[in-house]
Amino acid sequence: MIRVRVGDFKIGEEEKQAINEVLDSGRISEGKKVREFEKEWAKFIGTKYTIALSSGTSALIAGLAALKYYKELNIKSNTKVITTPLTYIATSNAIILSGFEPVYVDIDKETFGITPENIKAHLEAVDDPTNYSLILPVHLMGYPCDMDKINKIAKEYGLITFEDSAQAHGTMYNGKRTGNLSLLSAFSFYIAHNIQAGELGVVATNDYEIIRLIKKIKANGRMCDCPVCLRSEGKCPKLLSYKGEDDFDPRFTHDIIGYNFKPMEFQAALGVVQLKKADWIAEKRRENVKYLNEGLQGFSDILQLPKYDKNVSYLAYPIVIKDPQKISRKKLRYELEKRGVETRPLFGCIPTQQPAYSFLKEKYDGKLPNAEHIGLNGFYIGCHQYLSQEDLDFTINVFKEILSDVH
Ligand SMILES: Cc1ncc(COP(=O)(O)O)c(C=O)c1O
Repeated sequence: MIRVRVGDFKIGEEEKQAINEVLDSGRISEGKKVREFEKEWAKFIGTKYTIALSSGTSALIAGLAALKYYKELNIKSNTKVITTPLTYIATSNAIILSGFEPVYVDIDKETFGITPENIKAHLEAVDDPTNYSLILPVHLMGYPCDMDKINKIAKEYGLITFEDSAQAHGTMYNGKRTGNLSLLSAFSFYIAHNIQAGELGVVATNDYEIIRLIKKIKANGRMCDCPVCLRSEGKCPKLLSYKGEDDFDPRFTHDIIGYNFKPMEFQAALGVVQLKKADWIAEKRRENVKYLNEGLQGFSDILQLPKYDKNVSYLAYPIVIKDPQKISRKKLRYELEKRGVETRPLFGCIPTQQPAYSFLKEKYDGKLPNAEHIGLNGFYIGCHQYLSQEDLDFTINVFKEILSDVH
C-alpha cells in the first residue's frame, strides 16, 4: 500500500560519509563541522554571520537573551513582543521563557503570517507603546511576512524585528532571503524541515555583537567570546591580559547567565550535506505544490489550496477547509490517513486553542478570527522532494474519492 508521508529522510552515501568523518576526527562535540555549517548557511542566507545551536527553540531563546544583554539596545525584561498566534508552539514558549510577554495580532488567511496592518492597528490602539520592545513574525510554511512594511512600523515605534524563519529555508522576499530581513533571525533544521539535521538551530545576523553574546549564552555564559579560539597556540587574549595571581581560566569563569545550547558535529555534518541540495529541494517542493494545486483545483469551493509563489520554499502543502459544515477537518484527516495520506494539523491558535496558554483564552477569545479559523480547519500534507509521480497522483485520487460527493 502506498503511504504518502508528510516528510521523509533519505540517508545516502554522502550523509554516511559525513557522519563517519566526524567519528574518525575524534571530536564529536562542537568543532570544525559546526564552523563549516555556519559559514555555508551564512553564505546561503546572505547574512554576514550565523551561529549554530542545538535546536530552533534554543536559537529563539538565545537570540532573545542576547537582545537583553545587548547594552546599546536597552531592551528590558517584561516588555511586550508582538508575534503570531498561529505557529508551532516553540515561538511563544521562547518569548515567555525569556521573560517577555507575547502579544498576538491576527494573521493573513492565505499566507498565515502576521500582517503590517494588524501590527499597526494594535500599536495605534494601545495606551503605551513604549512597553513594547520587539516584533517577532514567523514565516509559516515558507511564506514570507511582509518584512519591508513590518520593519517600517518597527522603526516608527523604536522596536527590534526578529524573524522566526524556522519553516522558511531559502524563501526569497524582494530579492533577499528570509532570515536576512531583520536584526536577527532563527532557523530550525529539525527532521521535519527542508534542510534536515535531526535537531539543529541557527541564529543569523549582520551584527557581530549578537554573535559574540550568543557564543557565551549557548555555553552557560562563559567568558570566552573570541571569534576563533587561540588557546591551543598559547595566545588566549583573556589569559594574556589577566593581571591576577590565580589560575584564571575563561572557559570556567562565567560573566553572564546562560544555557547549554551547543550543537554536536553530527548534526552540522548532515546539515552541510543537505545544504548542497537546498535549491533542488526547494524547486522539487514548488513543482509538487503546483502539481497538487492543478490536481485539486476542482475542490477549491471546499478547500483553500496553498497560494503558489515561485519565491517560496515550501515546508509542506497547507490546506484550509472553507466550510466545515460540508466536511470537518477530523473527518477529512481521518479519511486521508485511512487511505495512506499522512496529515498534520496546521498548528492551533496559541492563546485560545492551546491548553498550556489557557490563561490567555478569555483575553483573546474571538479577537483572532483568522488564526482561530485556521487553527480549527487547517492541516497540511507533504510536498517533499522524495514524493514520486505515483505518490502525487495517488494523493489527488484519494482526495477525489473522499470529496466527490461533498460539494
Ligand atoms: C516556526 C517554528 N519555530 C521554532 C521551531 C522550533 O525549532 P526546533 O524544533 O528545532 O526546536 C519550529 C519547529 O518546528 C518552528 O516550526
